[in-house]
Amino acid sequence: MGRPAAMTRTRSILPILLTWLLGGCTDLQSAISPAGEQAGRLFSLLQLITWVCGIMYALVLLFLGWSMVRVWRRTGGDDAPIVDPADRGLSRSMLVWAGLIVGGLTLLITASFLADRHLASLRSEEVLRVRVTGHQWWWRIAYRDSTTGRWIETANELHLPAGRTARVELGSSDVIHSFWVPNVAGKLDVIPGRANSLDLTPHRIGWFRGQCAEFCGAQHAHMAFDVKVESPADFALWLAAQASPAALPADPVLARGAAIVTEGACAMCHAVRGTPAAGRPGPDLTHVGSRRSIAAGTLTMSRGALQGWIANPKALKPGTTMPTVPLDGADADAVAAYLESLK
Ligand code: CUA
Repeated sequence: MGRPAAMTRTRSILPILLTWLLGGCTDLQSAISPAGEQAGRLFSLLQLITWVCGIMYALVLLFLGWSMVRVWRRTGGDDAPIVDPADRGLSRSMLVWAGLIVGGLTLLITASFLADRHLASLRSEEVLRVRVTGHQWWWRIAYRDSTTGRWIETANELHLPAGRTARVELGSSDVIHSFWVPNVAGKLDVIPGRANSLDLTPHRIGWFRGQCAEFCGAQHAHMAFDVKVESPADFALWLAAQASPAALPADPVLARGAAIVTEGACAMCHAVRGTPAAGRPGPDLTHVGSRRSIAAGTLTMSRGALQGWIANPKALKPGTTMPTVPLDGADADAVAAYLESLK
């Protein structure tokens, strides 16, 4: 005889539910796994709030249970209301509750204020300047080269040197977005016409994930970015590589791809430094092949993913401004191979 259907269903739903619940605890995008000074402060505040509220909640349940038992004992389960004019316990217990609530609230407000002051005190002038602009639905990222004063542009991948403070200057080209790297710092709104800035001081080396945290249209969920925290030496190497122009390919297939990208329709929207392509509306592609993902965290970088994205971007990200450029099979292969080679 088979098991009852309901039991089988419960057993199959349980692992799915657990996966959903625990999915939020992974290291990659988690405010409860701080990898930065600012996120660490916020996590301490979160712990305090959880403890204070948890204890208050447990006390309320305890007293509720206790008073129910008392009433039940006194009335023996009778529904009749208790009228006891001589009961002075009420005013005393109300005083205790008022004290607990006021005390708890004072503690939380003071802790929030101190955490905010601490975050403000971390701001120094010795910072790395990074400009991040929100677009529907991707992130333009530019670094200020302290030696030349030039801005070096990339997209959807933020690199940060460990132990140094980066000041992210936020702007939007269209609607309100919200910049959030939960492991490193709190979130901040990205508002058109307003200059907001957020300091990030990461201390744990590794890959993390940032995500737009304000609903900004159909592809809001596909407005993510990769974050790499690396040693200052590795960061300097990466930035120097990003500052360099794109390599000119010798291979005939790559050269064919380069001609299509830098002299054809792609160049109207995309820039590839060192080539005639200088379009501004879309992401800078100079070192697109070095990135971990494409289409703002939608697909993992690979030649196949590039091909699929270019062949029909609106199928993968309905509403995207990226048009479908008609290319035959050989040209599509060449374009994907060229973009992948832009390390
Ligand atoms: Cu941008 Cu949500």
